[in-house]
Amino acid sequence: MKSYFIAPSLLSADFARLGEEAQAVLVAGADMLHLDVMDNHYVPNLTIGPLVCSSLRKYGITAPIDVHLMVTPVDRLIEEFAKTGATNITIHPEATHHVHRSLTLIRELGCKAGLALNPSTTLSCLDHVMDKLDLVLIMSVNPGFGGQKFIPAALEKIRQLRERVRESNHPILIAVDGGVKMDNLADIASAGADMLIAGSAIYDEKDYAQVIKKMRDILKNIG
Ligand code: DX5
Ligand code: ZN
Repeated sequence: MKSYFIAPSLLSADFARLGEEAQAVLVAGADMLHLDVMDNHYVPNLTIGPLVCSSLRKYGITAPIDVHLMVTPVDRLIEEFAKTGATNITIHPEATHHVHRSLTLIRELGCKAGLALNPSTTLSCLDHVMDKLDLVLIMSVNPGFGGQKFIPAALEKIRQLRERVRESNHPILIAVDGGVKMDNLADIASAGADMLIAGSAIYDEKDYAQVIKKMRDILKNIG
């Protein structure tokens, strides 16, 4: 049976209790944490920097941290996040002048490299960097905010990406981010996603363990 990764987005957590909130979803069965870094420039919102990532490590978080950089320029922050304990670092192709260089840098610093594709960004931007990628993140909302509605066209994009990854023979994970909820999880997984990133679907509920268990039950039936 295929294994799926569930990555709660801390964007919907209570920031005043971030360490606790991070630990709570992991205890509840999540595989990793998703950290949304926004700069009020590449996206119209402002969140957290590398200091928060290192604070989470100091707090005792040992699970993988999946850093989603929605910032421009990116290279300096790639270095900072690698230093502070990021596991995966995902960037947007529009946010760097040199995608190939930034992806190479991520791996040189010992992290897994990802590219995030906005709803209007075509899969062709992957053409010459497939060998540089550990994951591709399909944005199923426009980046910048939690709690937005899933854009259904993302499903066909996930299917096409699944096919490309298969043909490439590279072990690239497919992540889906934005509007992932209980009622579209099966469709997203069937389309070919490996990593389900969910903010409000998890943190807006009281019982994190119950939500994650429900998600696993749905995923179990996909195969
Ligand atoms: C949006 C972020 C997402 C967001 C997901 O720019 O990249 O990670 O937090 O939140 P939900 O699951 O609420 O759409
Ligand atoms: Zn994200």
